[in-house]
Amino acid sequence: MLTSRRPWWQGGVLYQLYPRSFADSNDDGVGDLAGIRGRLDYLGWLGVDGIWLNPTFPSPNEDWGYDVSDYCDVHPELGTLADLDGLIAEAGDRDIRILLDLVPAHTSDRHEWFLDSRSSRAAQKRRWYIWRDEADDQLSVFGGSAWAYDETTGQYYHHRFLLEQPDLNWIGGEMRDAFDDILRFWFDRGVAGFRIDVVHALVKDPPGHANLPAINDVLRHWRALANEYEPQPLLIGETWVMELEKLAAFYGNGSDQLHLAFNFPFMFAGLDAGALAGVVRRTEELMPPDASLVWALSNHDVVRFPTRICEEDDARVKCALVILLGLPGTPVLYYGDELGLHQVQVPDDRVLDVHGRDGARTPMPWGDVDWQAPWLPLGEGVASVAVQREDPSSILSFCRELIALRRRRTELSHGRYEQLDAPAGVWAWRRGQETVVAINLTAQPAQLDLGGEVILSTSGRRESRGLGPWEGVVVSTGRMSP
Ligand code: GLC
Ligand code: CA
Repeated sequence: MLTSRRPWWQGGVLYQLYPRSFADSNDDGVGDLAGIRGRLDYLGWLGVDGIWLNPTFPSPNEDWGYDVSDYCDVHPELGTLADLDGLIAEAGDRDIRILLDLVPAHTSDRHEWFLDSRSSRAAQKRRWYIWRDEADDQLSVFGGSAWAYDETTGQYYHHRFLLEQPDLNWIGGEMRDAFDDILRFWFDRGVAGFRIDVVHALVKDPPGHANLPAINDVLRHWRALANEYEPQPLLIGETWVMELEKLAAFYGNGSDQLHLAFNFPFMFAGLDAGALAGVVRRTEELMPPDASLVWALSNHDVVRFPTRICEEDDARVKCALVILLGLPGTPVLYYGDELGLHQVQVPDDRVLDVHGRDGARTPMPWGDVDWQAPWLPLGEGVASVAVQREDPSSILSFCRELIALRRRRTELSHGRYEQLDAPAGVWAWRRGQETVVAINLTAQPAQLDLGGEVILSTSGRRESRGLGPWEGVVVSTGRMSP
């Protein structure tokens, strides 16, 4: 048997989950780490290789965990450090790795670093944050000025996001060592890597403007630190840029900065064959030769993909899953994607997020146990995990089959990508030698010669005659066993 020296995440399936909404072990309405632990069987059954947890750190939750008040502990509502250690160990027994969400661009205004920084102009950590005598007219992402006046010292501090999220000053970089310690703290505990928040705007110089070379420096520094560990932890960045040329920069030379950089142009290309194929082609052209690619259609900040691009139509959702899981690189499923979960219409009086993103963060509908007074309402209209597991034609069953097929047929997880000629509205590509993926993203049947045996179809059929409306297939064109 061939032993692969590839890192686990290359071609592996990542699963992003929102801890407050995944599973609740103590019926307080808030998901927690023990709840996740109790659902590892499910995640193993689904076939994922790694889990990225949205922030698990103590936080006043002004921005739901993205305002961190202590980087080396666990939010009490989610559990304890011991719970996290237990989760890492038990997941490890099932060959599932745990990634945390590192938030290095800003802290909570209640972090002890900021309390010190704002205490006086001569404070030891004054320069850890961005202070100025004058505010300019920059706006924060969440609205209002990006500068907040602080009475005590008579200066303004910069906050790209909320007032309660003062930006760290990476140009001064005086907290670089503190972050090294944070990375080591978690790597030593067995965390398999980090999703890194707001990489695209990590260093701001002048304030408000991303300083790319300085961001590249920080990434190189963290990659060197990750290199000290075996196996090497994964660094995957939230690189929210809409130009693929800019995305490439976060990979550095292909092996000295991020391992993976999220592709937002792909997420926002719509369910459109030409647009999606174009993004994939450009991405393949522009990224450094050794770079690995990563694909996601949903996350906690955007409208869930079945609602955003699939008109909540199951056939289209299955097509989108074939795309996500049929491309070369690392697919990231957001919890609920595997069910085709819709964006939930959260009533005004239950909206908790400053930016109204609650509808993408609602509790996982397990169906076998009910959430007691969940912190956000559950959606309706999509069958629960329990129901979908029993239904061979469900989105969940289909998604699981696709993941299993990736594992069995390594061309689908590791084979080279080559786009094939196809009629308008159809996107077809070969993976490796003998595997073809073809998707008809139109409401009309499409004529094309699939040239082999259909081994998986969104419609459940097996004969190789063209493609039905909104149909996606995986085809075996050689003699390899399906
Ligand atoms: C990232 C997170 C988002 C958060 C913001 C500020 O974009 O994904 O949820 O609000 O950073 O930390
Ligand atoms: Ca709980």
